[in-house]
Amino acid sequence: MNYFIANWKANKNVNQSVEWAQKFAELLPSHTYLIEKMKQNQTKIIICPPMPFLFYVKQILKDYPEISFGAQDISVFDEGKHTGEVAASMLKGSIDYSIIGHSERRGQLHEDETAISQKMNQLQKNDIHQILCVRNENDVIYESATFVAYEPIGAIGTGKNMDAADVLAMKQKLSLKPDQVFIYGGSANAGDALEYLQTKEVSGFLVGTASLDPLEFISLCSVA
Ligand code: PGA
Repeated sequence: MNYFIANWKANKNVNQSVEWAQKFAELLPSHTYLIEKMKQNQTKIIICPPMPFLFYVKQILKDYPEISFGAQDISVFDEGKHTGEVAASMLKGSIDYSIIGHSERRGQLHEDETAISQKMNQLQKNDIHQILCVRNENDVIYESATFVAYEPIGAIGTGKNMDAADVLAMKQKLSLKPDQVFIYGGSANAGDALEYLQTKEVSGFLVGTASLDPLEFISLCSVA
């Protein structure tokens, strides 16, 4: 199975999110091979919009039950008196995945391993798959993580993705469990994606910039 995970980050307002979803829904029927791959469980698309627009996007794409949805982050807390937070239990049943430990959160919001392990715990308790982002072999690889996304900082949002050979070298250092899905993130794009997938060692991508345009994202998802 190859995974294509769209991480919009803090981009798009409500109208832009709706437009994206409408355009994506419009493009899908002409991508018959991609739809076939999704139906056969060979390709999985996971869309992680900003939280306020998650349900609009989900609603617009409801005719495609093969598409999954995710959060970009989750609270360390259980539901309750935590103003501004979104607890995993609030999303249980609505999403199947959540990104955790993105380097932007680790860096900009000083998210440490204590917070990350609490978030991993919250997701596990609420049956939401964890898409754990790591910057290198020094970040903790949690056993419960379904996905481990290697995202070298220098490649994120720069347009310069890391060479597949270097990505594989890092994969070795991460010592993943056999059932953990290894994906790559960092300027992933339709032009280079096949090179990673052909190694059979990389099972997909966490996609930032190239997921913001529905046509670009669907082209990337179609590479497999
Ligand atoms: P990018 O972002 O594709 O824009 O490099 C990837 C990510 O940060 O998840």
